[in-house]
Amino acid sequence: MEVKRPEWTSHFSFIAATVGSAVGLGNIWRFPYIMGKNGGAVFLLTYLLLIAFICIIPLCCELTMGKIYKKDAINTFSAINPKYKWFGWLCIFTVTLIPCFYFVVGGWILNYIWVFLTGNLPDNFAVYFSNFSSQIFMPCFLTILFLILTAIFPYRGVNSGIEKANNIMMPAFTLFLFILAVFALTLPGAKDGLLFMFKPDFSQFDKTMILTALGQALFTLSIGMGTILTYGSYMKENTNILKSAYTLIICDTIIAISAGIMIFPIVFSFGVQPSAGATLAFISMPQMFSELPFASVFGLVFFILLFFASITSGISMMETTVAAFMDNLNISRKKSTILTVFIIGLISIPATLSFGVLKDFKLCDKTIFDFLDYTTSNLFLPFNTLIICLIAGWCIPYFWEKAFGKGFIGSIFNILLKFIVPFILICVLVSGI
Ligand code: TRP
Repeated sequence: MEVKRPEWTSHFSFIAATVGSAVGLGNIWRFPYIMGKNGGAVFLLTYLLLIAFICIIPLCCELTMGKIYKKDAINTFSAINPKYKWFGWLCIFTVTLIPCFYFVVGGWILNYIWVFLTGNLPDNFAVYFSNFSSQIFMPCFLTILFLILTAIFPYRGVNSGIEKANNIMMPAFTLFLFILAVFALTLPGAKDGLLFMFKPDFSQFDKTMILTALGQALFTLSIGMGTILTYGSYMKENTNILKSAYTLIICDTIIAISAGIMIFPIVFSFGVQPSAGATLAFISMPQMFSELPFASVFGLVFFILLFFASITSGISMMETTVAAFMDNLNISRKKSTILTVFIIGLISIPATLSFGVLKDFKLCDKTIFDFLDYTTSNLFLPFNTLIICLIAGWCIPYFWEKAFGKGFIGSIFNILLKFIVPFILICVLVSGI
């Protein structure tokens, strides 16, 4: 039975959904600490250049493929050429693995919301975090809870689930972020924080920094897994690709920078190292909040913010898989969602336990959580993006005209698409391996 493909009801919904997918833990949690580790302003500058001129290319490719073919990732690639069907499955494989570690962090966020809601704050968050994340029952329960909360939206469908969630959560998220950023700017460390972010120190510039910036840019834009393609397949006929892609990039970047403006003044006010790393969000930040007046309020706002960011990204990951299972296994949306929940649940439990009982179980010298994070972000993501660019640039006639327009910009972007971006991605891949 051929069912009519759903469509976003407005341009705002389309932008809110793609921004909701792009803005996630990558912006609020990963971006500030990677920037902290890579020297602040110089990293930011490199990142901006890469995102504006390099990442825009695969982003437009995915959106255009969605717009032209109006199918899920697997059927899109097999429509281009039945030989490429395997690649569609690879995208789905990748996008199903990401939530298996992403939702573990989602479970921690739920736990911290509870802690700040009840006001029972521990004295030492470092001890608290390591005790909590190494337990068996609670972290697994919360990972699954986060998974089920996320699944509700794809289960209900594109318009009554996904679109509604993004239309409400994304504006609320932006509001909360600006409130916290403005508050952070009133703290004594604000000046140092801003100097760190915006005053370049060119001695920090090196090759690995460029590769890290590119990896982060691809991750944060949700490129390389058919997610943007799937969301693009619900877009209206008259949507302008290049304009939408730049809108998405600008929103994503403003939000990542605002997250930095929120975090660094707090970090400098409390004398924490800006390069503290992944623990910034779950140890340093809550510790600092707990020392401020109205601790529970600020902490709660911060974790609700993280919750909105992660659930809207999670919804887009699940929708990519759900849409693909629906159309390729010929099952209903509801059955497809249940199957997706089942698969993600099965893999995310060992990933959750890799902070406790399974912490000595190593794959390629990494815990299960780190292994999933590393292989998807550093290998599959650049590899898939490379293949998308190659297929778009070399296998679909006149693709560039549809993606970038016929004018001068279109021709420049065509050269980027055919030669420069693939070359850069090959460099990233080689260095990743
Ligand atoms: N962009 C998301 C973030 O910044 C993470 C992400 C990576 C993602 N790849 C994805 C989200 C694919 C959805 C689909 O957190």
